[in-house]
Amino acid sequence: MSSNADTAYKLVLLSLSLSLSLSAVGDLLLLCGVIVLLQGVCGCPEKCRCHSSSHSVDCSQQGLAEIPSDLPPQTLTLHLQDNQIQQLPAFAFRSVPQLTTLNLCNNSLSNLAPGAFQGLHHLKVLNLTQNSLHSLESRLFHSLPQLRELDLSSNNITHLPTSLGKVWENLTVFAVQQNQLQQLDRALLESMPSVRLLFLKDNLWKCNCHLLSLKLWLEKFIYKGGITDSVICASPDTWKGKELLKIPHELYQPCPFPSLDVGSLRGQQLGSAHQPVPKPPESHSTGERDHPECELKPKPRPANLRHAVATVIITGVVCGIVCLMMLAAAIYGCTYAAVTAQYHGGRLAQTNEPVKMEGKELYDSSPA
Ligand SMILES: *[C@@H]1O[C@H](CO)[C@@H](O)[C@H](O)[C@H]1NC(C)=O
Ligand SMILES: *[C@@H]1O[C@H](CO)[C@@H](O)[C@H](O)[C@H]1NC(C)=O
Ligand SMILES: *[C@@H]1O[C@H](CO)[C@@H](O)[C@H](O)[C@H]1NC(C)=O
Repeated sequence: MSSNADTAYKLVLLSLSLSLSLSAVGDLLLLCGVIVLLQGVCGCPEKCRCHSSSHSVDCSQQGLAEIPSDLPPQTLTLHLQDNQIQQLPAFAFRSVPQLTTLNLCNNSLSNLAPGAFQGLHHLKVLNLTQNSLHSLESRLFHSLPQLRELDLSSNNITHLPTSLGKVWENLTVFAVQQNQLQQLDRALLESMPSVRLLFLKDNLWKCNCHLLSLKLWLEKFIYKGGITDSVICASPDTWKGKELLKIPHELYQPCPFPSLDVGSLRGQQLGSAHQPVPKPPESHSTGERDHPECELKPKPRPANLRHAVATVIITGVVCGIVCLMMLAAAIYGCTYAAVTAQYHGGRLAQTNEPVKMEGKELYDSSPA
């Protein structure tokens, strides 16, 4: 009986310890699993070097054709420069939502999906220099509210969005030098109120009436302490090689009033919701369809003619008024003179009478 109880007790103990050790093994296994999983998530992609202290990942010069899929989620800085990445799909950086600096310089990017940067709410620096970008949609940047530096230099960009739809209040550096830009809309610049550095050099700036607003904006920008390089005109021939800021305002003709349908058409084309300043025709543009009335004319004759006509009319009116006044003065003068003369004449006549009388008397007396 007692031995029976003893074996039962032993059995219970045994099963208890067994289950305990089993659960310990399970825990251990779980822990291992978690560690392996963590390593899987936090590990460094094969071709990259990860610096955990600075949360930066360097995947530069690795011949990459796409974004590595297993980036550590806490990455703040991602170097992808000097690779062969050709396009960015939507949500390309979904796995690294904390990113603040993204360098995609010297890749082969020609196509960015409109949602490529979706989810990068903290991105401050975006470097896209030395790629093959042709155009950009405003939607592309909607998801980057914190952006401070945007470098689009050394691409083939022919046009930028007319506006961003909303304000990039923190953007301080905007670089588009070495592209194929012919014009830059003032509304786009006005959506970057904090911009301090602006690089525009080496484009195909077309110095016609549309660039007048850029010129005016730049003058204000420089006056307020902004720093920019030079906008050198590439066309028309009259201004080729000249600096936009050095061409006097007077030589620009105002742009013809933009037709609304073309403006809204362009708005749809660029996918921008709002278009505070509708862009005049120029747009769906192989670019070669020149509008002679937009061109900057070195000798704006019709305006001169109009001026001349106005001058003649004004001179005529002024002369007329002066003549009338002179006439009035003359009449007054004559009248006054006449009245005075009459008055004096009367008095003279009175004072002369005795003389005359004397004379008369003399005459009278002489024969006598
Ligand atoms: C661009 O990247 C390639 C490698 O993809 C490299 O050989 C080349 O030197 C880089 N160019 C510049 C200007 O850094
Ligand atoms: C982008 O990268 C290029 C080349 O490394 C560099 O010269 C430039 O300063 C960078 N732009 C910004 C805004 O950091
Ligand atoms: C601009 O920066 C300030 C300061 O970092 C921040 O408070 C603000 O939210 C930023 N603006 C936007 C549109 O994110």
